[in-house]
Amino acid sequence: MIKKETAEEIKNAARIEEVVGEFVSLKRRGTNLLGLCPFHNEKTPSFTVSPAKGIYKCFGCGVSGDATRFLMDHEKYSYPEALRYLAGKYNIHIEETESTEEEKQEEKERESLIAVNNFAAKHFTERLWNSDEGKSIGLAYFRNRGFTDAIIEKFQLGYSPQKWDDLTAEALNQGYKLSYLTKAGLTISKNNRDFDRFRNRVIFPIHNMTGRVIAFGGRILSSDKKLPKYVNSPETEIYNKSKILYGIYFARNAISKEDNCLLVEGYTDVISLHQSGIENVVASSGTSLTKEQISLIKRYTSNVTILFDGDEAGLKASFRGIDMILEQGMNVKLVLFPEGEDPDSYARNHRSEEIRQFLEENAKDFIVFKTNILLKDAQDDPIKRAELIKDIVQTISKIPDQIKRSIYIRECSSIIDMQEQTLLNEMNKLLRSQYRKDLKKQEYAPEPPTKEVTTEVQQKDPEQEAIEIQEKNIIRLLLNYGHQSFVPDEENIDREDQDNHINVAEAIVNDLTDDDIQFVFPVYQKIFDIYRDFVDKEEIKNNKTLTHHEDKEIAETAINLLAEPFELSENWTKKHKIHIQKESDILEKTVVHSLLAFKLDKLKQQKHNIQESLKNMDENSDNAEVIERMKQINNLNKKVQEIADKLGRIVLR
Ligand code: CTP
Ligand code: MN
Repeated sequence: MIKKETAEEIKNAARIEEVVGEFVSLKRRGTNLLGLCPFHNEKTPSFTVSPAKGIYKCFGCGVSGDATRFLMDHEKYSYPEALRYLAGKYNIHIEETESTEEEKQEEKERESLIAVNNFAAKHFTERLWNSDEGKSIGLAYFRNRGFTDAIIEKFQLGYSPQKWDDLTAEALNQGYKLSYLTKAGLTISKNNRDFDRFRNRVIFPIHNMTGRVIAFGGRILSSDKKLPKYVNSPETEIYNKSKILYGIYFARNAISKEDNCLLVEGYTDVISLHQSGIENVVASSGTSLTKEQISLIKRYTSNVTILFDGDEAGLKASFRGIDMILEQGMNVKLVLFPEGEDPDSYARNHRSEEIRQFLEENAKDFIVFKTNILLKDAQDDPIKRAELIKDIVQTISKIPDQIKRSIYIRECSSIIDMQEQTLLNEMNKLLRSQYRKDLKKQEYAPEPPTKEVTTEVQQKDPEQEAIEIQEKNIIRLLLNYGHQSFVPDEENIDREDQDNHINVAEAIVNDLTDDDIQFVFPVYQKIFDIYRDFVDKEEIKNNKTLTHHEDKEIAETAINLLAEPFELSENWTKKHKIHIQKESDILEKTVVHSLLAFKLDKLKQQKHNIQESLKNMDENSDNAEVIERMKQINNLNKKVQEIADKLGRIVLR
């Protein structure tokens, strides 16, 4: 057992931000650091680390603790394991007391599996570097593929000789128990014989997040078609292949630093790219990504670039899998390799700079790419076009972020040359039916209360959500651009008015007041009223008036809305190069478009209300009143038509 004094020393030395930072990408926010919580699924960071207090706390799911607690919960370490990990990290010598039988037993299973795997890894590398067979066959093979000795060592590549029980015999000889060798999948026991799983193959060890070997892949060296190209360790207590990605241990820091994760198919792709100095790369090992693997990547970045080397049919087959990545709030790009090349061969045949340049120039936004490729197939076939729209909208609807969704709708409608509204309608239909499905699911299988954070968002009625988006957007424009000068659309402008400058706030306030439009969400109405007051007094105050407002809800809403477009225009669109002009560059169009869309919804709502009230009238009702309402509807119809026409003429590009 670790001595109390040592445990204290370790805890004092551990810096919470460094420990957590190994697993979660953290950004500084004032005195704290902020990141995506690794303990629950979230889209906006609420996981807070306080270096001063030495603790972390998630404001989404409520977990909290210190450095050791983090390792225990996150890495599933036992308390002593966590301390040992920290001692290693901070170079602290461990003084031990004798451990009890119980303690030994507790860690035995996992530790033993790790231990035999560790032994096996060493054994395979020993055979690769020091045996005649290993050198002439295994090492020669790797070198022949262009792997440097340094990279072979870094990835702990090895060799398993042709013998039936080279590893098993040696391990037993050294005192490792047969039961653990078989549990780890290294030894196969059959018909009273114990033999090695990996024979006559080059070995790729698979590391977990902390660099321990938890499994192996062995590649065949002959071209014998009867034998599988790769033999892999079976699933064990320490190896769950859907939860790990090959190379993640070597890639995680680079993924975090580059804020992007390259995804390839195979072991050799990872290693070759590494050798070329491109280290933010992991492999799915030939299968499509699982949810768990995506969350693994998400701890470090929300950007994935898939390097694809198959044919077009294979590419299309992978589309659905990619939807799942989008569903988790990740941004996905795609790089296609020239025919006959894969990341491995490309990396071998090009210089580091050329590879970087190739990746940069060829990374295409997935949704834009998919739209283009399907459009190419559809050409002028109307049925295929209809399918294409459904397909694309389906994909876009997976994106959890509304703002991103609406940008893609806009972008894709212009690629397909379709009215934005058509795509929007299609998407709302989808979201609505998805919402109903979710509701049903909840009826039958109520979600555990810990999920509240995420379900809260999903529970919103899409119609309410649509109203909220519209209202939020108007308020967002007020807050961000209220003071900026505004030149109304040419067709709306009075020539004499031209140097009579107005600002965005005036434009919005006047327009909405004219049509007597009210907000459904009280906080938006409050903020609007504040701006109406500004306009009345002819002074648009600094938005600090709102972010520091004594009404907490107003202050919070203002802060959030001021933060959003920054992320969107500065980071997001730049990174994804989907050629969206900055909103501030096309401010007039944005404001006019938003106002029109907003009013259109509101007027339709008004019309709907009047129609409903008409339905409730019968023959006894006052005739004059009925006529009055019909007139109102007529009026509204005209207005709606006018606005719809105007909207159609504005192209937001
Ligand atoms: N794979 C596997 N079993 C197989 C074939 C493939 O587990 N029978 C997995 C391996 O993880 C492999 C990945 O799928 O790395 C990609 O397969 P492939 O492209 O065939 O292998 P590479 O690793 O690229 O090997 P090489 O470059 O030598 O062909
Ligand atoms: Mn390959």
